[in-house]
Amino acid sequence: MSLMELTGIRHVFRRGGKEVHAVNGVSLSVGAGETVAVIGESGSGKSTLGRIALGLITPTTGEVAFDGTVLGTLRKPALRALRSRVQVVFQEPYESLNPRIKVGDIVAEPLVIHDRELSREQRREKVVAMLERVGLTAEHADRYPRNLSGGQQQRIGIARAIITRPELVVLDEPTSSLDVSVRARVLDLLRDLQREQGISYIFISHDLATVGLISDRVAVMYLGQIVEQGPTAEVLGNPKHPYTKALMSATLSTVVGERREHIPLQGEIPNPSTAPTACVLSGRCPIEIDECSAGPVAFRPVAEGHDVACLRAERSDALLPTGESA
Ligand SMILES: Nc1ncnc2c1ncn2[C@@H]1O[C@H](COP(=O)(O)OP(=O)(O)OP(=O)(O)O)[C@@H](O)[C@H]1O
Ligand SMILES: [Mg+2]
Repeated sequence: MSLMELTGIRHVFRRGGKEVHAVNGVSLSVGAGETVAVIGESGSGKSTLGRIALGLITPTTGEVAFDGTVLGTLRKPALRALRSRVQVVFQEPYESLNPRIKVGDIVAEPLVIHDRELSREQRREKVVAMLERVGLTAEHADRYPRNLSGGQQQRIGIARAIITRPELVVLDEPTSSLDVSVRARVLDLLRDLQREQGISYIFISHDLATVGLISDRVAVMYLGQIVEQGPTAEVLGNPKHPYTKALMSATLSTVVGERREHIPLQGEIPNPSTAPTACVLSGRCPIEIDECSAGPVAFRPVAEGHDVACLRAERSDALLPTGESA
């Protein structure tokens, strides 16, 4: 059984009489100890999906189940207990840390909420052990976030997230704001913590190179839908959806170490003010046929565990690098 199961999730934001269809029918499962990456361009609905998984947003429709329990059915004490089992790390470490609170108190915060039995002394011990575990020292506990580097701040964010020993952590672009060398060390830390504690991660990112290093499975989002998902090596090494191909061609990455094709998409990412009624890539896709605009396109398997929402998946291999002709 999977640890987290998102089923048929839709979410519409309503602001000033306008609608934003941020998530349009997403189903995703995360197994124990597994890292599932959610990738896609800005505005594709990744963070909204992450916040829904955290129980911070109640989806317009659809179901979120954690460890077999549907979130919407829980009463407050049960919901609080569950909150300690699912934690989050955000992109901007500094913005997510209260600048007026000392590091030690920031890391202790979840314990104050979720582990009320602990004495002040016990809490302090746990905080120091956690600081040391993420590569800092007891001495950092008495500092303020502004006196730390970006990498150290993100280590604080990670320490705060895992001090209650959660089973699932939603990592929303956790290394995007960090320098490359710092990023690699924070990724190492996340991997080590996962190995030690068996934590599951939902790893939200637009950086395919990072995703290739850390995830077991990848879900590619576009306009609030997952268009392709499967094992990381399979999706990044053998992408089938034209959108995934375009996303990869736009990235100067060496994930799979081969020369990248350049696959152009026409036009801009559409405004999500209405729910898509056809293939989400309709109008931008280089291999579109008439049927693609006739209605939504269902997922279908192209390999073991590898699903694609594209009528033309088999033909996407014919997409040619820019400047070359058949
Ligand atoms: N609180 C909100 N109210 C209204 N619209 C919102 C809200 N939060 C997000 N949106 C809209 O929902 C859509 C999806 O946003 P979301 O933040 O989930 O995307 P994202 O994939 O995380 O993007 P990014 O890579 O930039 O973080 C966007 O069109 C965004 O403008
Ligand atoms: Mg986001």
